[in-house]
Amino acid sequence: MLDVKLFQMKSFLPMPYEDALSPRLKRAHEKLQNASGVGGEFTGWVHLPRDYDREEFARIQAAAAKIRSDSKALVVIGIGGSYLGARGVIDCLCSPNYNLKKKDTPNVYFAGNGLSADALQEILDLVEDVDFSVNIISKSGTTTEPAVAFRFFREALEKKYGHEGAKSRIYATTDKARGALKSLADAEGWETFVVPDDIGGRYSVLTAVGLLPIAVTGADITELMAGAEDMMKLCEDGSYNCPAWRYAAIRYELYRSGRPIELLACYDPAFRFMTEWWKQLYGESEGKDGKGLFPASVEFTADLHSMGQYIQDGKRIMFETVVRLGDSDRQLCVPADEANGDGLNFLAGKSMDYIRSRAMDGTLLAHTEGGVPNIIVEVDGKTARNLGQLIYFFEYSCGLSGYLLDVNPFDQPGVEAYKKNMFALLGKPGYEDRKAELELKLNK
Ligand code: PA5
Repeated sequence: MLDVKLFQMKSFLPMPYEDALSPRLKRAHEKLQNASGVGGEFTGWVHLPRDYDREEFARIQAAAAKIRSDSKALVVIGIGGSYLGARGVIDCLCSPNYNLKKKDTPNVYFAGNGLSADALQEILDLVEDVDFSVNIISKSGTTTEPAVAFRFFREALEKKYGHEGAKSRIYATTDKARGALKSLADAEGWETFVVPDDIGGRYSVLTAVGLLPIAVTGADITELMAGAEDMMKLCEDGSYNCPAWRYAAIRYELYRSGRPIELLACYDPAFRFMTEWWKQLYGESEGKDGKGLFPASVEFTADLHSMGQYIQDGKRIMFETVVRLGDSDRQLCVPADEANGDGLNFLAGKSMDYIRSRAMDGTLLAHTEGGVPNIIVEVDGKTARNLGQLIYFFEYSCGLSGYLLDVNPFDQPGVEAYKKNMFALLGKPGYEDRKAELELKLNK
């Protein structure tokens, strides 16, 4: 089971903080459990691993099986919470090189998460000569980036399969009743999946938003949900037995003691998009009202040769949360070489996991001695069940953290500012006054 460990934390936080913080954590916990805090209408994810819609889950499995049988590629169109979780889980469970591997499951391409014509064209080219399907994901159904990308892929599907043929290759994951995407899907007869009303984008990876793309790769989504349920039960306890309590408490105390940056680190490149998912989760949940830890990420050991210098010696404004994913799936030992020209024979016969574990320990000591507190999140291997535990652990800790900070962990008012400016500058009807005002500012 996932665990949280603190390394020599007493040298950074000499005061015992657990008892003092306990009543506030208890209140935050009750707000999450009873949906009674600010933003409580978006806490559907708290009991989701127990209460999820089994009928829809079966439809997700059936749609995934159909996509596996009639497609060589699935294009997943979505941005933010509507793509990062799926990408993180697929990279972690199947490899960041999943699309390059020999396999009998479809490639999965992620589109609509930006506005680069080159990136879009590249995926259009990749699916030009293969059978493919599209999963368009947008809770609001109105987000510009995925909506624009969807126009291109819908056109490509219709060109290849005709209007009727395309219909059976489009899967829309969106609100159950509202939004342009839902109206389009109903009018066209595409299969739809629901982003529940009470679950916001960044907490939605364990709904159809993440589950359909993940299931297409053959990863075990039943185990993913079972792992989340393991952690949900542990979190119901409402005490420091729960790893989410320990994590939320320590990161809050470190923030209060003058460390505004949290670095999420992992020693496996397969975890990179899980850190992107984590950054959105924490950045959007905590960063408001002039408060919140700035979530950043590093990939070790690669970044020890770049960011490592700053972490060791730069401004002392950060702490690290290191996710240790347990043993690798494959065990590799360093070959012996009689000539020993590279002087590496002291490692001959040693496993890569062993070398990595020594690197982890060496880094832990160096960074701690350099003044960077370390929190360790121990995971027992990259399995679907363990990843389910980790996802729920981070979500629950994030909800607790938001309430400790006295912010609404479930809204994202700041995201609207750029959207309004972009719409105005693009001439969207209704934004005429703002357009004139912005153009004046730009041309000053
Ligand atoms: O967490 C959030 O709500 C956002 O990041 C959304 O996920 C993102 O903006 C995409 O929104 P939508 O799914 O409505 O297209």
